[in-house]
Amino acid sequence: MSARKIIIDTDPGQDDAVAILLALASPEVEVLGITAVAGNVPLPLTARNARIVCELAGRRDIRVFAGCDAPMSRGLVTAEHVHGKTGLDGPQLPDPTMPLQDTHAVDFIIDTLRAEAPGTITLCPIGPLTNIATAFRRAPDIVERVQEIVLMGGAYFEVGNITPAAEFNIYVDPEAAEIVFGAGAPITVMSLDVTHKVLVTGPRTEAFRAMGTEPGRMVAEWTDFFERFDKEKYGSDGAPLHDPCVIAWLIEPTLFSGRQINVEIETKGTFTQGMTVADWWGVSGRAPNAFFAGDVDADGFFRLLTERIARL
Ligand code: BDR
Ligand code: CA
Repeated sequence: MSARKIIIDTDPGQDDAVAILLALASPEVEVLGITAVAGNVPLPLTARNARIVCELAGRRDIRVFAGCDAPMSRGLVTAEHVHGKTGLDGPQLPDPTMPLQDTHAVDFIIDTLRAEAPGTITLCPIGPLTNIATAFRRAPDIVERVQEIVLMGGAYFEVGNITPAAEFNIYVDPEAAEIVFGAGAPITVMSLDVTHKVLVTGPRTEAFRAMGTEPGRMVAEWTDFFERFDKEKYGSDGAPLHDPCVIAWLIEPTLFSGRQINVEIETKGTFTQGMTVADWWGVSGRAPNAFFAGDVDADGFFRLLTERIARL
C-alpha cells in the first residue's frame, strides 16, 4: 500500500515534537510539509521548533511553513506553563539551520490540496485550528478535496485542561474549530478522553532513553520536562502524549475505538468557550460529523512509538 500523504499542522510543543518524529519514522505516511501555527508558544518559536525536530530526525528535506500568528478573531493564549519558554524546554538544542519556506502555510495547504488528486491528502492538525480554518475560509473548494482531518483537540468525559470546560487547542481558536467541524470533511478526533490514557510512565521514558540515540534521549528528556506539570495537576504516573495519537491512528487505527457522533464547538459561553459539545450518547438528534475516539490500547501505542523512535 502506498504511503498516506499528510500535512502536519502544529505548534511544537514537546508532544507535537514526538508526533513529528513518529511520522518521520513511519513509512505508512509521507509528510508533504509541516505548517506551523501559533499556540503553545508564539509563531516564531513554533516555526523554529518544527525545524529543530526535522533536523533531529535527519530530515532537512522536509518543508516547514509558517502560518497564522494569532487566532482568527481573538488574542493568542499560550501554554508556557506546560511547555516552557521556548515550547521545547528540557534538553538544550541548537538553533535550526534549515530554512523556513517563503510561502505562507495557508497558501501551502490550499495549493497542495488543489494540486494533488482529490481525496488523497490528510490534514493532521495538532495545534489550534487557525491555519486550517483560514485555508477553508479562503478557498472553500479545497474542503471536498480533503481525504480526512485527523486532529488532536477537545474532550468530553475529561472536560477541559486549559479551563474546566475546554481543551487547549480548541479553546485557543474556537471560531476556527467551529469552521473546521462545520466544513463537512471527514474528521477523526483524538481528544483528552484518549490522550489522557497514554501516559509516559517511568519505565516508558526509560525505554526511550535506553535506545542510546539522540532522538530517543530527546523524547525522554522532553517528557521528563513537561510531565512535571501534569503529574502535579492530575496526580498521574506521567504526562499524556497527546499529539502522537493522531499519527498512531494513521499507522495502526486498531489501537483506538470510538464513535461517529455530532460534535459542536461552544464559541459564546460565559464559562464554556472552546468546549467540544460531543453528543456521545446520541441525544441531540444532530447529524454526526466526526469520529470521536474514546479508548486506546496504551501498551500497544507505546510499543508502536518505541519501535518507531528507535528507527531514527
Ligand atoms: C494540546 O495542547 C497542547 O499543549 C499540546 O501540544 C496538545 O496539542 C493538549 O491539550
Ligand atoms: Ca500541540
